[in-house]
Amino acid sequence: MSQDIRPADIRSVAVIGGGTMGSGIAAACAAAGRDVLLLEASDALADKAKVRVDALAANDAERSLFRDKIAVGTMERDLPRLSACDWICEAVIETLEAKRAVLSAIEPVRRDGSIVSTNTSGIPLRAIVEDAPARLKRDMLVTHFFNPVRVMRLLEIVTGPDTRPDACETLSAFLRGKLGKGLVTAKDTPNFIGNRIGLYFILSGLHAGAGHRAAGVDIARIDALLGAPVGFPGTALYGLVDLIGLDVIDSIARNLAATLPEGDPGRAVASLPAAERRMAERGQHGRKSGGGFYRMQKAADGSKLKEIFDPEAETWNAARKVALGPDSADLATLFFADTPDGALLRDVLGGTLVYAADLVPDISDDIVNVDRAMRWGFAWGKGPFELIDSIGPARLIARLRQEGRPVPHMLAVLEKAGAKSFYDAQGYLGIDGRVRPLPPE
Ligand SMILES: NC(=O)c1ccc[n+]([C@@H]2O[C@H](COP(=O)([O-])OP(=O)(O)OC[C@H]3O[C@@H](n4cnc5c(N)ncnc54)[C@H](O)[C@@H]3O)[C@@H](O)[C@H]2O)c1
Repeated sequence: MSQDIRPADIRSVAVIGGGTMGSGIAAACAAAGRDVLLLEASDALADKAKVRVDALAANDAERSLFRDKIAVGTMERDLPRLSACDWICEAVIETLEAKRAVLSAIEPVRRDGSIVSTNTSGIPLRAIVEDAPARLKRDMLVTHFFNPVRVMRLLEIVTGPDTRPDACETLSAFLRGKLGKGLVTAKDTPNFIGNRIGLYFILSGLHAGAGHRAAGVDIARIDALLGAPVGFPGTALYGLVDLIGLDVIDSIARNLAATLPEGDPGRAVASLPAAERRMAERGQHGRKSGGGFYRMQKAADGSKLKEIFDPEAETWNAARKVALGPDSADLATLFFADTPDGALLRDVLGGTLVYAADLVPDISDDIVNVDRAMRWGFAWGKGPFELIDSIGPARLIARLRQEGRPVPHMLAVLEKAGAKSFYDAQGYLGIDGRVRPLPPE
């Protein structure tokens, strides 16, 4: 007979699927001193998972800790061992069928009160548990880790209407306290928070790019503008696309086209633009394929030469330093300037900020979780609402009206509340227009 032991702490962990994410989650838990059972689909795949975990060890001591703490096995042979685990984390491939199949296999063997999570990047939790027994619906939530697991601070938590609060609290305390994660509470909506906004920035930026390049703002300048002045990492837009890969972005875009709600502005950009499509078709995906928008070439004397791709001419040119001028120190001045640089920022950055401001409360109960998701998951120096505060909410609202564009939901809330900013010394602006104290990180 199974026992209902609702663990006060997570002492033992099972991870199903030892790929990129599963091996990272197993390593993070072992490094925190937990016993981990890592299950794969076959012995051969289990061997590969072992190699992956080994490669994640920072040194010999950690390698031996991982060997001691992580038992690797197969679903077929080792399933009954799941009954000893407090938390079972599913990290198999991103299809509804695969996830449902794993959950129905583990359900009969796990003990009552154990916590189950899925590491989906964006399949709705409600779809995953649709036909699941009530017991699983109560014990189940989404834990969306970011890659690489041990490096990225962001972890998005999504619960369903039936998830018991103590399961979420126990697991959250472990993930925050023992794995050092920055937790963000997201709603059960497509791509949750980080990827919903982050992919809009990328895809809307790619779509707007050709027009701005024609106006004289080339790729190097676009990245210079969307980097330091905004507080984004140096990879900015095109460097980030190179890092992720055009093939991955293409597949996420297709997924977004199928899942974004009707009327969402993301639908209009949920595909690769013509120039990027041609690049993807040639296999010019980014860093992993030897170059996308940027590449490093070896000169005859052995020195390295950075080159930038011109998508219109389809030629490579030597990279040059971009001078942005004195205005670049002040984001608001740069953003509202009547220049091609200002137009680029209003279009790509402004468009993303407006998109984010219209998504609350649909994707999150507050602006704080949105800002934290973008800082912790995409290494933005400031989140969208903090950036709007830097630019000036009243100026942004006036500009939108002047252009005949609608004012997004949270900016309308701010205006109605008579607030001057989303954050002040008292805290942050809630979705009801009242100021609330900042929740601890
Ligand atoms: N890679 C990322 O950047 C990233 C980031 C966040 C979330 N995710 C999500 O994490 C999940 C895993 O992604 P990944 O990148 O680790 O994929 P992956 O392809 O690297 O690994 C998946 C692993 O699951 C194993 N597997 C498949 N079916 C199985 C089964 N029935 N039982 C046991 N193991 C099985 C595969 O053999 C493989 O090793 C996906 O849902 C993905 O969307 C990925």
